[in-house]
Amino acid sequence: MQLPSLLRLSLGLIVALPTLGGAFPHGATSEAKSTSNDCNRTCLSNIVEQFLDSVVKHDPFSLPLASVYKATENSHAAALTMMTLWRTVTKVTKPNLLAIDSKQGTVYFSLDINEGGITNILRTRLKVVNRKITELEIFVNRYRGEHGFSFSAEELPSNYAVLIEALFATSSDFGVAVSDTCQFTEIGWKVVDTGVYANGTTDPLGCSWPDAHPTDDKARVALVIDEELGFVVTSGMIPGIIYPYQNVSAFIPDAMPTAQEAQDVWYAYAQAQGEGPLVAPAAGMGETLEVLQYYNDELQAMQINVYLNAPNATSLWL
Ligand SMILES: *[C@@H]1O[C@H](CO)[C@@H](O)[C@H](O)[C@H]1NC(C)=O
Ligand SMILES: *[C@@H]1O[C@H](CO)[C@@H](O)[C@H](O)[C@H]1NC(C)=O
Ligand SMILES: *[C@@H]1O[C@H](CO)[C@@H](O)[C@H](O)[C@H]1NC(C)=O
Ligand SMILES: *[C@@H]1O[C@H](CO)[C@@H](O)[C@H](O)[C@H]1NC(C)=O
Repeated sequence: MQLPSLLRLSLGLIVALPTLGGAFPHGATSEAKSTSNDCNRTCLSNIVEQFLDSVVKHDPFSLPLASVYKATENSHAAALTMMTLWRTVTKVTKPNLLAIDSKQGTVYFSLDINEGGITNILRTRLKVVNRKITELEIFVNRYRGEHGFSFSAEELPSNYAVLIEALFATSSDFGVAVSDTCQFTEIGWKVVDTGVYANGTTDPLGCSWPDAHPTDDKARVALVIDEELGFVVTSGMIPGIIYPYQNVSAFIPDAMPTAQEAQDVWYAYAQAQGEGPLVAPAAGMGETLEVLQYYNDELQAMQINVYLNAPNATSLWL
């Protein structure tokens, strides 16, 4: 049976999680201590609003930027005044997902934006020190190929509403138990993987927690920890291959050799059948931001957000 490639990709970054039960990872702790953050949830949420206003107004100068800031848009660095985002966006919604970490002064949010009449997905991590923005890690996913398989701007608001409205009992004991109702999404979409022979299930994939998964020993863990809503945001670089998949394509991490071999078999079969046109398999690097939500000691939601990069690409944030 064909294994859903991206679901398994999703587990690449869970290395971070066992540490959350007790002390935070070293990086997070020392960073939190070394920065002065008088910017509480209200203040951080206001900065997100200012960010979105500035985008629609095409006016990055209205932002409270630090004298030196670090910024990337779809993985490469640029001054905000030269970024595409501030040039093309004509409409934003309120964030459909907003994770706030007032200890570290970090936020992560995602929402639909409108560019030239087309709805795309914006997701951003900001870091704030002394009420000034010091880091902006911005991604705009414009269609399925940028993520490797999934995309749904249409379904994003309703799928993300489940996360942001959740009520839960506070717990400091993060386990890896998966709730029966755990919701799995990728770039707004509840992923339906019909299998490469198009004869599989039509049910959306649920969350799962297998032992075998891609890892990144340089993963950035605990980028945002929202203790109120139970969100944890982590990031890692996952190498893999972009394969033809039915008449589209799918990114399959190198750490999943069985799934890659199954795809090789199907590719040979499809070619023998004279199917096509098929995109040629090619190497790529999945720059991955993963959002997990825990409460009641169970995993309640997992979101995989990938932006595909060149083979062997690294991240400026490492
Ligand atoms: C944040 O601080 C401001 C004062 O700077 C205060 O008015 C507001 O209520 C605080 N918000 C929260 C959520 O604590
Ligand atoms: C789907 O089709 C493939 C190729 O014909 C076959 O090997 C596989 O068993 C089928 N899967 C299901 C679930 O029917
Ligand atoms: C792929 O093929 C399916 C039928 O199997 C069709 O419904 C769909 O529109 C096609 N997608 C694209 C992008 O051509
Ligand atoms: C990526 O790196 C690996 C090992 O470091 C190397 O074998 C491979 O050729 C590189 N791929 C590309 C496309 O440069």
